[in-house]
Amino acid sequence: MASLKVHHIGYLVKKIDKAIASFTGLGYQITQHTLRDDIRKVDICFLEKDGYRIELVSPVSEDSVVTGLMKKYKNSPYHICYETEDYESAYEELTANGFIAIDTLTPAPALQNKEVVFLTNASMGMIELIK
Ligand code: NI
Repeated sequence: MASLKVHHIGYLVKKIDKAIASFTGLGYQITQHTLRDDIRKVDICFLEKDGYRIELVSPVSEDSVVTGLMKKYKNSPYHICYETEDYESAYEELTANGFIAIDTLTPAPALQNKEVVFLTNASMGMIELIK
C-alpha cells in the first residue's frame, strides 16, 4: 500500500463562526481563516492543536455538497483526509480494496487548489485523498 499520511480531520459545523469560537476556546489555533469554496458551496476554516489539523466545513447553500450530511450528522467529524507521495498508486490500491470514489478529482480552494477526491468504504465511511 502506498503510504498515507493524515492531513486533517473534516468536521461538519452548522455555524462556522460559533464553531471557531468553541474550538479556539479549547486551545485550537486558526491556521487558515474562513474561505468560501464556491465549487462545493461551503465555508472552510483550518485549525490546529497538538499536531492535529481540523477542517471545519459549513454549508452556505441548500445545494452544498454537505447539506444532506449535515441533516444526518449535525455538528460532527465526518471524514479523515490523507496525503500521499504516490497518488496514482494510492488511488488504484484503495479502489481495488473496497473504496468507491464518490466524486472525481476536483480542485480544493482551501488547499491551495490542490485536487482532492472523496472515497467511501462500507465498513469505514468517507475518506478524502489529496493528489
Ligand atoms: Ni477535508
